[in-house]
Amino acid sequence: AAEPTPARSFYDEVGGAETFRRLTEVFYIEVAKDQVLRPLYPEEDLGPAERRLRMFLEQYWGGPRTYSEERGHPRLRMRHNPFRVGPIERDAWLRCMHTAIAAIDDETLDAPHRKALTDYMEMAAQSMVNSPF
Ligand code: HEM
Repeated sequence: AAEPTPARSFYDEVGGAETFRRLTEVFYIEVAKDQVLRPLYPEEDLGPAERRLRMFLEQYWGGPRTYSEERGHPRLRMRHNPFRVGPIERDAWLRCMHTAIAAIDDETLDAPHRKALTDYMEMAAQSMVNSPF
């Protein structure tokens, strides 16, 4: 009897590690240039923050679970409490993320996957808002 085929994760379907590496690389290139976001990051080196976002997104989409091995439960809203995230910060974050998603080619990220990823980012960014201004 044939073995059941294991379900392929979204992570695998969009090119795995290389896609998430590129996504967060471009995202943080944009953050580094962003006058709203850059001051929120306490560290000179954005590399560790880039790595945390990459690990989180890989885990969320069915890839390696390194994020939780290193950081525990994500509790992202709580972890953003030290930062004021109002509509301006949310929109700046989304602008950087839209640029990052746009940097992934159509062969790697087809239209339905691109839409799923974009919809998630918009929902997630909204859910991180913790200030009305
Ligand atoms: C951490 C800003 C939305 C995922 C951080 C940090 C800042 C920040 C300043 C600290 C840097 C660090 O230590 O990593 C913002 C702003 C947002 C936003 C202004 C606007 C909406 C999001 C969203 C996600 C996310 C939507 C997920 C989809 C993360 C993760 C960390 C983090 C995984 C590291 C948490 C940890 O393990 O310590 N964010 N963020 N952020 N953010 Fe955001």
